[in-house]
Amino acid sequence: MNKEYSKDKDWEATPNNLEPFWLPFTPNRNFKNNPRMISRAKGMYYYTPTGDKIIDGTAGLWCCNAGHGHPHIVEAIQTQAGELDYAPAFQFGHPKVFELASRLTMMAPGDLDYCFFSNSGSEAVDSALKIALAYHNVSGSGSRTRLIGRERGYHGVGFGGISVGGIVNNRKFFGGLLTGTDHMPHTYNREKTAFTKGEPEWGAHLADTLNDIVTLHDPSTIAAVIVEPMAGSTGVLPAPKGYLKRLREICDQHGILLIFDEVITAFGRLGFATAAERYGVIPDMMTFAKGVTSGTVPMGGVLVRDHVYKTFMNGPEHVIELFHGYTYSGHPLAAAAGIASMDVYRNEGLFERALSLEDKWADAAMSLKGQPHIVDIRTVGLVAGIDLESRNGAVGARGFELMERCFGDEGLMVRVTGDTIALSPPLIIEESQIAEIFEKLARQLKKLD
Ligand SMILES: Cc1ncc(COP(=O)(O)O)c(C=O)c1O
Repeated sequence: MNKEYSKDKDWEATPNNLEPFWLPFTPNRNFKNNPRMISRAKGMYYYTPTGDKIIDGTAGLWCCNAGHGHPHIVEAIQTQAGELDYAPAFQFGHPKVFELASRLTMMAPGDLDYCFFSNSGSEAVDSALKIALAYHNVSGSGSRTRLIGRERGYHGVGFGGISVGGIVNNRKFFGGLLTGTDHMPHTYNREKTAFTKGEPEWGAHLADTLNDIVTLHDPSTIAAVIVEPMAGSTGVLPAPKGYLKRLREICDQHGILLIFDEVITAFGRLGFATAAERYGVIPDMMTFAKGVTSGTVPMGGVLVRDHVYKTFMNGPEHVIELFHGYTYSGHPLAAAAGIASMDVYRNEGLFERALSLEDKWADAAMSLKGQPHIVDIRTVGLVAGIDLESRNGAVGARGFELMERCFGDEGLMVRVTGDTIALSPPLIIEESQIAEIFEKLARQLKKLD
């Protein structure tokens, strides 16, 4: 029976039933007993249905870089919805998706001159991995099928992404994953790098572990290496100084494609349009999502270098060159939101703003050193990772409780992974709001068992 229309069920009377929605990456029973509901947002603030004001310490999920409800972006989406709701993504095009691709390739460094669109970071990653495999196939080195990631890496939740990813809980429940992957070690060492602002001095040598993997498997079997320039979701691990350059050199030496997963780091998060620009390293492909529309409409994609795209542009012209794509690749609403977001980032100088605030942000974060439970703090760009000591036998409990208290008692949104607090505010943040975030956090840390 259709439950919605069952006469026995007074469905209209229960529009706010929390039960049917299965929340992602959330302890559902806990949430439904004590929901943290958001119903409105403007600028740096969220508002609950009862009107409580919450300062956004996380730009939503690392994505609302231009702040919330920016009038230029809102208007672009509204206008687009009235003008063109949808155009088929295969075999047809619409002007805005071409315009956005041009804007993004102009923004990207080097010859990252082509753009493939998806709807999320996970799809962007799976697209990049598939492009890497197909690239070697069409260029006559089809034995290159191995994909290399890194421990603690987060590349979304598709089968490709979790296979090259290195977050144990995201992998262990889901079977054998992709075959032919391997992982470099992560770059974190508390003893060597605790309380470092920016890129740690220690750790560049860990890029050389790629050489060991190459020796083990032989370069002729390796298609690509994928890393986050700053590992975000695992708890904020900035790249050690020189590490990414070294990875680039090793990949060049062995004909391996280098993919930067910039789903978090692109669009100003590290004070530059991309992390590739900050580090002066051009990957062969760069994934993006989140900030491309400032979180307003789902969108992701892959920027690829000339040689990658051109390798595919062979054969008869009526034949599809890459058998891959999504119904909503480059959706008109997302494209309009993307163009408007690029306008805002440029017109308001938000990437430069992030860079100019980086030192003050880092100082404010480090001011928490010495507060109860804190065992490390890391910062880079407008990002901070704050490690709390775990409770005995209850990893993650302290972090989770802090997140709940910040929201309920302080009007502060923070993000937790395990016992690490991750902060990444919208790039419009004011200095007084930086102070507000860390004062609130300090107060709650003092109250925490
Ligand atoms: C580096 C990285 N890659 C991929 C993803 C997945 O993006 P999405 O959640 O849009 O699928 C994320 C999400 O946080 C990410 O941080």
